[in-house]
Amino acid sequence: MSTPEDVIAASPLDPASTRQLAEETPADTGVFGQDTVDRARAIIARYPQSRSALLPMLHLVQSVEGYVSQQGIAFCAGQLDLSLAEVSAVATFYTMYKRRPCGEHLVSVCTNTLCAALGGDAIYAKLREHLGTDGKPLGHEQTSGQPGAPGSITLEHAECLAACDLGPVLQVNYEFYDNQTPDTALELVKSLQAGEKPHPTRGAPLTDFRQAELQLAGFFEGREADLDGPSAAPETVRGAAVAADRGWTAPAMPDNAEFPALPEKK
Ligand code: FES
Repeated sequence: MSTPEDVIAASPLDPASTRQLAEETPADTGVFGQDTVDRARAIIARYPQSRSALLPMLHLVQSVEGYVSQQGIAFCAGQLDLSLAEVSAVATFYTMYKRRPCGEHLVSVCTNTLCAALGGDAIYAKLREHLGTDGKPLGHEQTSGQPGAPGSITLEHAECLAACDLGPVLQVNYEFYDNQTPDTALELVKSLQAGEKPHPTRGAPLTDFRQAELQLAGFFEGREADLDGPSAAPETVRGAAVAADRGWTAPAMPDNAEFPALPEKK
């Protein structure tokens, strides 16, 4: 798993490219107001080194604009004393950072192996068809409606969402809707388009993409109770329940466990 520091270190852009990117990047036109600056400073204060704040900072700029714009990249670079190339390298590496404005809701359909075999591909095809226009299905990371406007939906297919025991699953703004079928998924999306917010199968109540991004940046705005939403389904903890019933426990870790030496970093 790559850390932001690994990605920054591996950035393919040399200083000349960084300069070019800087020339092409419009100055911050004021889209990030004082409240965003204050939140950025609060994020930075959480870490011993400011560059470690980059991931939540990118979520913060998404909460303002609905995606990571060039201004968002410049804002993060300025606040964290990083180059534009370093911020771009991270923002374009992780799929949760969007390069085009998202709809009010982001719908992510798992089409990885298990969900696909259980119907995830059929769910994705049904939603693409429903959200498309003029007989053309909606594409990956495309938006139905005006991005950000009420009822607008950005659709994407996603890799394994770590809920294979409840597949096929989809997420809306990263909240889970388990055990879906093409018909239940279509009903859900139609509800979102109509301005409703059906409760996820588990987890926090549904909000919208920008509010979810603010929460990912660590700001709950009076919605702290969202953290208490149940995240594990009975299926997920079934193995632990069986082990508890039967009195099974894992062997204790020896006091002086020896671990193999890690190879030296080059
Ligand atoms: S394959 Fe869909 S959650 Fe794992």
